[in-house]
Amino acid sequence: MKGYSRIALATIALAVAGATATFAAGPGDPKPVKETGGMWFDKDGAPTYNIAKDGTVDWGTFVGYLRYNSICLDCHGPDGSGSSYAPDLTQALQQLSYSQFIADVAGGIKSVNTAQDLVMPSFATNKNVMCFISEIYSYLRARSTGALGRGRPAKNAPDPKGFDEASYKCLGIPM
Ligand code: HEC
Repeated sequence: MKGYSRIALATIALAVAGATATFAAGPGDPKPVKETGGMWFDKDGAPTYNIAKDGTVDWGTFVGYLRYNSICLDCHGPDGSGSSYAPDLTQALQQLSYSQFIADVAGGIKSVNTAQDLVMPSFATNKNVMCFISEIYSYLRARSTGALGRGRPAKNAPDPKGFDEASYKCLGIPM
C-alpha cells in the first residue's frame, strides 16, 4: 500500500471493486503469517495484527490505533465501539473482508430513509486515511476479535526501519 501515486490513490476504489474476488466473504482467520515493513498479513494477504503474549502490539496495528483516533473516532467513538451517529466498528469488522472495508472507506456510505440520515464521507482522496488503510484495518480487526482491549495499547513494537520514509513518500511530504 505504501508509496502509490496520486493517480493510483484516486483510482483505488475502482481497483478495490475489481479485487473483491481475492478475499472470501468476511474477514477469515486473523492469524499473522507474513510481515512487511512492520505490517502483518494473514494467509489471504489481508492486513492483520500480531500481539505478543506480553501484550506488545505490532507496529502496524499501533499506527492504526493512532490514525483511527485522529480521523475515525469523532464519528465512530472511542476504540471503534460506535456512537449515536455511526456504527460500532468492532461489530462491523466481524463481517467485513478487507476489500469490503476499503470499498466502504474509500467510497463512503449513505443510507437515507425516513428513520435515519446517515452519511459516511468518502476518504478516497484523503492520504491521512488511504496511506494507512491497512494499519487502520488491522487495528479494528484486533478490536473486533477482542485480541485488543479498549484504550491505548500499553506496549508496542518499535518503528521499523523505512516505515517513516514510506509514509512521508505516500503523504507527499518531502524528507
Ligand atoms: C463524519 C462521520 C464519520 C467519519 C469521520 C467516519 N465514519 Fe465511518 N461511518 C459513518 C456513518 C454515519 C456510517 C454508517 C453509514 C450508513 O450506514 O449509512 C459509517 C460506516 C462505516 C463503515 C461500515 C460499517 C458497517 O456496518 O458495515 C465502516 C467500515 C466505516 N464507517 C469505517 C470508518 C473508518 C475506518 C473511518 C476513519 C478513517 C471512518 N469510518 C470515519 C460516519 C463516519
